Amino acid sequence: MKSEESGNTKTGNGDNDKASVHGSEMLDSRRSFIKYFLFGSAVTWTMATFYGLARFFKPPKTHKRAQPKFVDIAKKSDNIEINSSLIFQYGDRPAILIRNKTGKFVAYFATCPHLECIVQYNPKSQMIVCPCHDGIFNLNGKNFAGPPTEPLEALVVQVNRKSKIRVSKPTIEET
Ligand code: FES
Repeated sequence: MKSEESGNTKTGNGDNDKASVHGSEMLDSRRSFIKYFLFGSAVTWTMATFYGLARFFKPPKTHKRAQPKFVDIAKKSDNIEINSSLIFQYGDRPAILIRNKTGKFVAYFATCPHLECIVQYNPKSQMIVCPCHDGIFNLNGKNFAGPPTEPLEALVVQVNRKSKIRVSKPTIEET
């Protein structure tokens, strides 16, 4: 009996040893998994931080659409009523063409120099108004009232012999 018991005990000890070896192997593999996981997380976090900082200090170049030399607005100037306006696209920017009470045309980029809202023509007051903060510009594009501290950016309007309207950016001599 004793020998059996001791045999059993031996066998039991062997199982225990195996179990403890197996347990320590599992513990080691868990430890190394956690170690690699933490290391991977730290590397990822560091890379993300440096990438964010790099983008902050050197933002990517924006690919602006090339500005056209001119934009044809209307085949006939008569198509645009006296004392009215027309919003159109000049390259990637909105612009406004205004025909005043005397029939003269003026055009500006329509982005307000204050916070870049789109301005509108008010035929009643014959002023250009910005709906965002009540900025007002006269028909020469000059800031007249409200928060804008700069005038609107002017464009050049040409009406050819066939009364076709073309708008372009001013040349350097014209600015
Ligand atoms: S954005 Fe035009 S007045 Fe503020």
